[in-house]
Amino acid sequence: MELIRRYEVVARERLDQGVYDYYAGGAGDEQTLAENDRAWRRWWLRPRTMVDVGAVDPSVTVLGRRLAAPVIVAPMAAQRLLHPDGELGTARAAAAAGLAYTLSTRATTDVAEVCAAAGGGVWFQLYVQIDRDATEAAVRHAVSSGVEALVLTVDLPVAGRRERERANPEIALPEGVTLATHTGRPAESTIKPLGGWDPGLTWDDVAWLRDVGDGTPVLVKGVLTAEDAEAAMAAGAAGVIVSNHGARQLDGVVPTAIALDEVATAVEGRVPVLVDGGVRDGGDVVRALALGADAVLIGRPVAWALAAQGEGGVAELLAQFAEDVERALALCGCPDVAAVTRGHVQRAAW
Ligand SMILES: Cc1cc2nc3c(=O)[nH]c(=O)nc-3n(C[C@H](O)[C@H](O)[C@H](O)COP(=O)(O)O)c2cc1C
Repeated sequence: MELIRRYEVVARERLDQGVYDYYAGGAGDEQTLAENDRAWRRWWLRPRTMVDVGAVDPSVTVLGRRLAAPVIVAPMAAQRLLHPDGELGTARAAAAAGLAYTLSTRATTDVAEVCAAAGGGVWFQLYVQIDRDATEAAVRHAVSSGVEALVLTVDLPVAGRRERERANPEIALPEGVTLATHTGRPAESTIKPLGGWDPGLTWDDVAWLRDVGDGTPVLVKGVLTAEDAEAAMAAGAAGVIVSNHGARQLDGVVPTAIALDEVATAVEGRVPVLVDGGVRDGGDVVRALALGADAVLIGRPVAWALAAQGEGGVAELLAQFAEDVERALALCGCPDVAAVTRGHVQRAAW
């Protein structure tokens, strides 16, 4: 948490106000944004003692890939707005840390370049457009580039009402930088409210995507209820990501630390459950594991580290984050991730 705060302070100094607000902001009055962080603290950790934690192994296997810790970088748009290292820097830092990286549809670097730089462990986040031919071309390009999963974002049928973005509705990308053409549209040189995404997406589209992706696992990102978790599994999702889009879509939706309990209980281990939103230290990761998650994704902390110090900053952040997970496991009496149980958390009384 402390390390993240330092990066955010530096990032805030370095970035234009509009860019900082774009990354930091949430929807509406930002009630859910504030609660996403705080809600993890509604679960107190219940450590066990006198367990041999002389050698703690924080690694996990997600979709067949071994990760050094149960941590994945969340998809975030336009990372060359933050630092010239952009997506290549974050993806390389994640690979060096032995973690997976998720590339946004709205990246400023093409997926083929990112896959080549990372050498594996890259997932592609997909916004489905009304223009299905363009979406299919993007998926095929991502799959042939070597992505290991498709992350279908389902919580953006329309853009959230983001008050902070109203002051700066269109942010110019740095000189020479454009959005990658994952949408099939001509390269854009600004980032502005989303357009062209398909508000008519339904669960049937999961099968369509599996088909287009030639069997590449499809993770559904944006699940907050047991009902949607069931629907995602019935539709053939390889996993679900409990997410409220970093509180950027509908203000007032349930914080993910609370939704995770319901979703993981419904999934009963049938598919991997991942979670993001306000995960800020090793203790939060253990809380997520105890509530039934297989791994977490982290978003803004990575953005601040990139903005502050480029690829080296992200590498340092991820290394320290993984170390903090290891420490929290040891202090909870868990020699590995499998040792974490529901009994390692209790709901706070207030
Ligand atoms: C600036 C910004 C851009 C984002 N862009 C995307 C995106 O392109 N696709 C997506 O599925 N989620 C996107 N997200 C949501 C993140 O993937 C993730 O759900 C969220 O940021 C996690 O919460 P955290 O930032 O509190 O760790 C974005 C989030 C931020 C802050």
